[in-house]
Amino acid sequence: MKRRRFLGLIGLAAGSATFGGFTGCSVPGSTGEALTSDVPLPEPFGVPLPIPPVKRPVRRDATTDWYEIVQRPADVELLPGVRTPILGYDGVFPGPTIESRSGRRTVVRHHNRTDVPTVVHLHGGHTPATHDGWPTDLVLPTGDPHHHDHHPGRIARGHRDYVYPLAQPAATLWYHDHRMDFTGPQVYRGLAGFHLVRDPAEEALPLPAGEREIPLMLADRAFAADGSLKYPAVGHEAGTTDDFLEGVLGDVVLVNGAPWPELEVAAARYRFRVLNASNARRYGLTLDPPPPDGPAFVQIGSDAGLLDKPVEHTTVTVAPAERFDLVVDFSGYRAGQLVTLRNTLGAGRTGRVMRFRVTRRVRDDSSVPTRLADVPALVPPAGAVRRRFAFSRGLVGGRKGWVINGRPFDPLRVDAAPRLGEIEVWTISTDLHHPVHIHLSPFQVLSRNGHPPGNLDTGWKDTVDLRPAETVEVAVRFTDYRGRFLLHCHNLEHEDMAMMSTFETK
Ligand code: C2O
Ligand code: CU
Ligand code: CU
Repeated sequence: MKRRRFLGLIGLAAGSATFGGFTGCSVPGSTGEALTSDVPLPEPFGVPLPIPPVKRPVRRDATTDWYEIVQRPADVELLPGVRTPILGYDGVFPGPTIESRSGRRTVVRHHNRTDVPTVVHLHGGHTPATHDGWPTDLVLPTGDPHHHDHHPGRIARGHRDYVYPLAQPAATLWYHDHRMDFTGPQVYRGLAGFHLVRDPAEEALPLPAGEREIPLMLADRAFAADGSLKYPAVGHEAGTTDDFLEGVLGDVVLVNGAPWPELEVAAARYRFRVLNASNARRYGLTLDPPPPDGPAFVQIGSDAGLLDKPVEHTTVTVAPAERFDLVVDFSGYRAGQLVTLRNTLGAGRTGRVMRFRVTRRVRDDSSVPTRLADVPALVPPAGAVRRRFAFSRGLVGGRKGWVINGRPFDPLRVDAAPRLGEIEVWTISTDLHHPVHIHLSPFQVLSRNGHPPGNLDTGWKDTVDLRPAETVEVAVRFTDYRGRFLLHCHNLEHEDMAMMSTFETK
């Protein structure tokens, strides 16, 4: 058992204290420390944008689609000409995309043929607790000789069936590893993929579809001299070296696993489902040059589904785990024009994300309707339960780490007990950047720093981006499933270094 987990479990973890000694943020706009690759890096825009494969079910019946995914090591080419060992769902990064119908049960059997225990979480899924990927509900590798019987989780050996009811509207979800203390390194090694939910209401809209509906998974990485992924782990222990407590930032921006790729686009509307799957990096997305007329981005969806009406942006800031469903209209550009997707929160190499090459004019029947979906406002009643969650540095078992309300995560402690069906108001505050994620049910942002929510806070959210010293109030209503769920920082190094808390729905 790892030292910190052990301390946490037997309740010896120290309370928080304020202290100095953290190294400063080396990257504006993100809390984290930047790694430098030791391999020569490619020129940007030299490789085509890959599209993750769409997974086929192994079986379907009247109510359910069944899938099988094998988590395994693989050598892949992320950088051209460089072999990189990863852990991948089906051995690829990003993992295969699963596409579910709203309300149809999806069962995914995950086989663990890696060298480490794993946990799968469907991020944004409205999922019963036993299938939500509790951090100690390990799936042990096939043939793992070790006995983990002292472990407090629900242990599976070799494989586990994750059952997802998916009684929720169309949305861009994603699945990723969630192993206690090791989510950062295991996602970094490649364990992340898209899971889309579709429904008839969304399909009835004239949005760009088919080849013009594209998922974009943004993830930064750094590479060691031998081509392997560089991550500042402390041997096989939890967490990172002290220099990287604030978060791990890479110097290569991968989109769907390719460095600064290029996509040929017709001069027409495209729908991009943008996911920031980075451990710690935030992106400020802009188009260079911007379209001559009209906004760069028309946002149609947020984390948990469509907005009620579209919102226009010139810059879209995306924190780890957030999703933005964006329509870009390339019809204002001329054929042959190159349009760079930039990151205003990066510099040099990390200031670029990918490039679009506008090829030809095509007929475009798509449009963005002025009304997209029903998004009823969650209005907290007078006397609604209010809770506060302060995200800050703190001591974790005597080591520097990250805490919520002064306490490091303890998988056996419950910090809040909301009632199913009731709207509560949660006030979240920060010291540094913390993208805060709540499991089970989506929420709506009520205020940011005492002001109305920003235009990037619109719609159903499951992750909210807080910058240093911010306070956000959200309205949340948990429904359907009783049990223990997580609230945590989605900077994965913060998460691994104890910035999680448990709520138990009643
Ligand atoms: Cu995407 Cu609890 O995580
Ligand atoms: Cu989640
Ligand atoms: Cu954090």
